Amino acid sequence: MKKLNLIPDIDHLWKTLGYHFENICQVMHEFIDNAISDFIRNNIKNCEIIITFKKIGDQVEVIIEDHGKGIIDIENALTLGGMRYSESLLNEHGFGIKHGFASGDPLNKTWSLMTRTEKDALLGQYQVVKAPYLFEGMNVEVCKGNCLTGTETGTIIKFTCTYDIFKTIRIPFGSHTSQFEDLVNLFYEDLGVYYSYIIKQENVQITIKAFDDDKKYKHIANVKPIFPVVEKCKMNKSQMVDLGNGVVKIDLKHIIMSKKTLTKKYYLKNMRSSGVEIRYNGRLLEFLGFEEIWGIKSHPFYNGNLIVVNLISDKRGRLPNTRTTKTGLNRSDSKTAFLFHWIADQISLLHDEKEMNQNIKMKFIDQVVNLTFVDKENIIYDAIKTKKFICNCQVYTHEGYDLYFECAKSKVNDLYFFEKIWTNNFY
Ligand SMILES: Nc1ncnc2c1ncn2[C@@H]1O[C@H](COP(=O)(O)OP(=O)(O)OP(=O)(O)O)[C@@H](O)[C@H]1O
Ligand SMILES: [Mg+2]
Repeated sequence: MKKLNLIPDIDHLWKTLGYHFENICQVMHEFIDNAISDFIRNNIKNCEIIITFKKIGDQVEVIIEDHGKGIIDIENALTLGGMRYSESLLNEHGFGIKHGFASGDPLNKTWSLMTRTEKDALLGQYQVVKAPYLFEGMNVEVCKGNCLTGTETGTIIKFTCTYDIFKTIRIPFGSHTSQFEDLVNLFYEDLGVYYSYIIKQENVQITIKAFDDDKKYKHIANVKPIFPVVEKCKMNKSQMVDLGNGVVKIDLKHIIMSKKTLTKKYYLKNMRSSGVEIRYNGRLLEFLGFEEIWGIKSHPFYNGNLIVVNLISDKRGRLPNTRTTKTGLNRSDSKTAFLFHWIADQISLLHDEKEMNQNIKMKFIDQVVNLTFVDKENIIYDAIKTKKFICNCQVYTHEGYDLYFECAKSKVNDLYFFEKIWTNNFY
C-alpha cells in the first residue's frame, strides 16, 4: 500500500487557475457578483460598489470596495470550491475569488482581501488576508480601525496587475487602443451592459475611479445602465418554462438594433453584436451567435437582430448550470439544450436566400449613395486596391470622389466587407 499526497503544486496551480478568463472584465464580474450577492442576501438598500484603477508605470492597482456586510467566513471564502453559504445564485461554484486573484495576480504576490463584518465593527477592527495563496498556513491579520470609506461594514479586494492584463479590457473588440482612458471607458461600457438590469432594478450603484498620475488623468463617475437602441421590437413576452427541474420565468425579446448608439463594443449593428444574449436575473452571462440555436451561419442579413433572453429564478438548480467562470452556460447540462430548443421554437429567423441577397444589395446601394456625401472615399478606394474584397465598384474623382458599382456582379461577401470598412471608418 502506498499513501498518495495529492496536494497540488501551488505555483503551477495558481498560474493555470488564472487562464480560465479571457479578459479582466470577466475577473471583475466575479468580484462584483460577490458584492451584489451579499447585498441581495442582506437586503441592503443603498448598494454601493467602488472600483478604483490606479495606473502606476506599467502596472495598474485594482481595488473593489463594497459596502455590504463583510465576509462572515474567510476560510470558506478562500477555499477552492468553498460553498458553505451560497447566499444567492450568484454564488454558484465557490471559485470566483480564487480564480479572480489568480488571473489578476498570476505571480501570487500582490493580492489582498480586507473585510469588516458587524462583529468587527463592534470591536473596532477589520480583518486582512494577503498573498501568497497557500493551502496551509495562511493567516488572517486583525487590524485596529476601519479600512472602508464612509461605511461600517463591507469588503475590499485589491490586486496589482500588469498593463498587458489590464489591456485585455478591449477583448473581444477589434480596437487596438492601449490608452488608459479609452480602456477605462470600455470598462464603463462593459459593466453598463453586463449589469444594466441590476443597476436599474436593484438600485445598485457602481462607481469607477480611475487615476493616471503621470498623465494627470482623473475620472470618477457612476456606471450607467446600457441597453440596445431599439429600431424595431419584433417580440416581447414573458413565459413560465420548465427547463427540466421546475419552472422559471423567461423574459424574451427580439429586437432590431438601431445604428444610433454611442457604444463602442456592444450593441453595434454589425455581425459581432448581433445574436442572442442570455441573462440570469438580469446579469448578462453569455452572448452567442445564431448558429448554435438556429443552425444558421452568421450572415450580414441578420445584422441588428438581437434576442434577449432573461431567465428569472431564485431557486437553485432550476437554471442551467453555468461554466465555472460564469462566462456562459454549461453545454453538458440538459437544461441548456432544452433552453436553446425552446428559444428556436419561439423565434423564426430563417429567411429565403434570394430575399436576403436582395435586401443586402439594397442596403449596399443605400450606403454607396450616402458615401458620396462624406468625402472620405479614399479609405474605401485604398481598401479596394488591397483586393481584400472583390469589388466591381468604380471610383473616380471630380473635386471629391464618386462611387458606383455594378449591382449584378457583387457578391454578398463583398458587400459585407464594404459594410465593415464603412462601419470602422465612418462611425
Ligand atoms: N464581497 C463579499 N461580501 C460578502 N461575502 C463574500 C464576498 N465575496 C465573497 N464572499 C463569500 O465568499 C464565498 C466564496 O466566494 P467565491 O466568489 O470564491 O465563490 P462563490 O461566490 O461561492 O461561487 P462562484 O464560483 O460562483 O463565484 C461566497 O460564497 C461568499 O460567502
Ligand atoms: Mg463568487
